[in-house]
Amino acid sequence: MSSDVDIRSLKARAGETVTLSAWLQDKSGKGKIQFLKLRDGSGFVQGTVFRGDVSEEVFETAKRLTQEQAVRVTGEVRADERAPGGVELSVRGLEAISENAGEYPITPKEHGVEFLMDHRHLWLRHRRPWAILRVRDSVQRALVDFFHGEGFIRFDAPFFTPNAAEGTTELFEIDLFGEDKAYLSQTGQLHAEAGAFAFGKVYTFGPTFRAEKSKTRRHLLEFWMIEPEVAPSSHAENMALQERMVSFIVRRVLEECATELELLGRDVSRLAGAAEGNYPRVTYTEALDIIRQHIESGDLPPNVQADVQPVEWGDDLGAPHETILGHHFDRPVIVEKYPAAIKAFYMQPDPEDERLALCDDMIAPEGYGEIIGGSERIHDYELLKSRIEHEGLPLSAFEWYLDLRRVGSVPHAGYGMGLERVIAWITGIDHIREAIPFPRMLTRMTP
Ligand code: 4AD
Ligand code: MG
Repeated sequence: MSSDVDIRSLKARAGETVTLSAWLQDKSGKGKIQFLKLRDGSGFVQGTVFRGDVSEEVFETAKRLTQEQAVRVTGEVRADERAPGGVELSVRGLEAISENAGEYPITPKEHGVEFLMDHRHLWLRHRRPWAILRVRDSVQRALVDFFHGEGFIRFDAPFFTPNAAEGTTELFEIDLFGEDKAYLSQTGQLHAEAGAFAFGKVYTFGPTFRAEKSKTRRHLLEFWMIEPEVAPSSHAENMALQERMVSFIVRRVLEECATELELLGRDVSRLAGAAEGNYPRVTYTEALDIIRQHIESGDLPPNVQADVQPVEWGDDLGAPHETILGHHFDRPVIVEKYPAAIKAFYMQPDPEDERLALCDDMIAPEGYGEIIGGSERIHDYELLKSRIEHEGLPLSAFEWYLDLRRVGSVPHAGYGMGLERVIAWITGIDHIREAIPFPRMLTRMTP
């Protein structure tokens, strides 16, 4: 809402008389006094209306206001240590600038999450989504700044793709006028590889789509992924870039979003290690040992079932295993060199052990699971061709991708970070659905 000043700036204006536009969140008071809880999108402030300080008309307006009605208010900014944001407004003038809002479904009482999600278009106006989605904005800007500072260019991949890249079971298929088929993109990576050979360092940043049939707290059907790709580059350089990036964005959010994190009740001391860097690195094989030791000693995080089984060498980690591993460290941990058989076809084999891929996942602490997956890419034409065939993928759809290995091919690497997973972790919320304005899940397509 355009106004002379915004609520966020009030702290620096103690003693001034200001005019601003806002919405009424809640109201209390009786007799000679009304307390108006106001919000304008930039922040929240309480306006106090004393009958003796204002005209009878203004006091009557204050009494009649309903939740979510828009107002234009003039008042004196008063420093008040107890107030959230450190200031209050002593109201002098008040005018309603929207109609009486009528029935508003989200009252100050407690509501269940499903009810709130059904009213997501309105719930967005409330403090919790406000705080989380401002952190989202901060993370997105931090990412763009980080990659710009590292000499990357943003390189947009298409959302309609002719091929699968991360496994064929999770594809949303699109009917192209009954003739050919296309899919909604699961990853921008393959196109980013073309970009890396053209620009050296690129990143894609956009929505990706996965037909995940499982209902979990970590999966969306539509999620945002940032995917840097660098040529030439190596597995080791790729892991170092991931650590620089994640520590950069955590530091940025801690600097920029103290108010938001406090409002969410986030214990920011738990982000200190992530902000610092020095992320531990373990191999897949070492990770299995750490997990097994925790299971054998019964030292399990509270949200992991006591009957959890260790991972057999060759199997992928499940969510409880990632939770156990995440709890073992006080900052994100990088797990490298998974068995090639459980990873994507394009990953470069480890020259020291051909059963392994030169890949890594970054696992967040506190049970948030995998936030990054990445690898060095196969740069050899024959090897890549045989992997595509072995995967049962149609070679014709990958001719362009193979071209990248026919001319000027060098070892190159990249990764993808799921934006909503990272936001869920940084804000400390327990479900990924609140990390995006309008989540798309098996059980939710509206609003
Ligand atoms: O590990 P993934 O599948 O990796 C790729 O897609 C690679 N092509 C990336 C690359 O190398 N350029 O996915 C990357 C990340 C995961 O670590 C996770 O954070 C997130 O994407 N992710 C999801 N986030 C929310 N909902 C889902 N259904 C997700 N699936 C993956
Ligand atoms: Mg992965």
